[in-house]
Amino acid sequence: MKILVLGSGAREHAIILALRAEDTQHEIFAAPGNAGIAQDATLVALDQLDGGAVTTFANENGIDLVMIGPEAPLVAGVADALRERGIPVFGPGKAAAQLEGSKAYAKRIMDAAGVPTGRAVRAASIADVEAAFDDLGSPYVVKADGLAAGKGVIVTDDRAAALAHAEQYLPAGPVLVEEFLSGPEVSLFFLSDGDTVRPLSPAQDFKRAYDGDAGPNTGGMGAYSPLPWLADQFGSEQEFVAEVTETVALPVIRQMDAEGTPFIGLLYAGLILTPAGIKVIEFNARFGDPETQVVLPRLRTPLSELLLAAASGNLEDQPQPDFSDDVAITVVLASEGYPEAPQTGRQIAGLAAAAAIDGVRLVHAATAGPDAPGGDLVATGGRVLNVVATGTDFASARARAYEAMGLIDLDGGHFRTDIAARVAE
Ligand code: AMP
Ligand code: GLY
Repeated sequence: MKILVLGSGAREHAIILALRAEDTQHEIFAAPGNAGIAQDATLVALDQLDGGAVTTFANENGIDLVMIGPEAPLVAGVADALRERGIPVFGPGKAAAQLEGSKAYAKRIMDAAGVPTGRAVRAASIADVEAAFDDLGSPYVVKADGLAAGKGVIVTDDRAAALAHAEQYLPAGPVLVEEFLSGPEVSLFFLSDGDTVRPLSPAQDFKRAYDGDAGPNTGGMGAYSPLPWLADQFGSEQEFVAEVTETVALPVIRQMDAEGTPFIGLLYAGLILTPAGIKVIEFNARFGDPETQVVLPRLRTPLSELLLAAASGNLEDQPQPDFSDDVAITVVLASEGYPEAPQTGRQIAGLAAAAAIDGVRLVHAATAGPDAPGGDLVATGGRVLNVVATGTDFASARARAYEAMGLIDLDGGHFRTDIAARVAE
């Protein structure tokens, strides 16, 4: 298959590695990609937000499937441009991508579909925010409405800090004040063709910057899959997945279809398992990062067939995706200053030794170069790369992931040391 992948992060690298592992004959193009992706796909200089340019490239090169990785091209309507020209594309159109692009839209869909979620109040002024804080109580949860790469959310007991956060985002429009939900978080992905869904295996993401869930929210500092502790509460992973399919994924997909905005692509359900049941904290309209890096290495069903079936409206013909019993963990290496003000341009070394460790693969996020053989690989953003380790148990996968991380050198680089620590015990 000829596949074009849009995006430049570790999620896109993980998707490309999965496509490669499934069939070495695939011809894979990536735009814009990164230094790691360049080793596994042909990079093309395309503006990923330009639907016209992407469509022209796909037509001229006989692309069979376009896989849109990040949210920005979805919200920009790139999938619409491709679909209008009959090119199979995995990713929702602009209207359906509002499920991620607007938290207020997501809340409305959930209300209409009867999906369990926390109470939320739209606040247009500081007075509204104060009133919502009084109503919903502490800890305070404030969310900017648009896309903010994980940084638009604050969860804190500190009312002054929560108010300051609201003040920062209010000039751009109303913010959401939400009821605090407590319990373990789970990310569960569903492939959707607008009508039928197919679940993947659950993962857990570590959102805070530092060990012990301290520090600011980030895009995600690590993840692991599967979640063996789900069986204690739900009997088995399958029963948990079935419940989320029935109470969350299908109602949302049907509601969106009924409104004339079918969701074709990846429905990411961000869930909290509260004492009062499973509740949705957010939806994303794309694969999660870094969860994808631990979910896809465990997937045994060919990914390209699932993506193409979803893009073509034929998901019903696909079996339930099959996963290996192996476990996977990923640890993110971030630049100094991430998430507030990441330092970029610094050299990364030690990758060959790290990648030589058994069961370890390196998935690149923000890397560039080397422009010449023997030149430097440099960090170009906040989340630089992921170490992914797979194995039969968490303790050994963890040990190997951290051994590999210890061999990688990035001045000022930081990573969490407690990813999957509890599940490994
Ligand atoms: P979001 O961007 O909505 O996923 O929020 C980022 C993170 O903030 C989530 O992964 C949670 O850890 C936390 N969070 C968001 N909303 C809530 C909530 N209502 N209650 C508790 N934690 C939340
Ligand atoms: N890992 C969180 C996200 O992809 O939004």
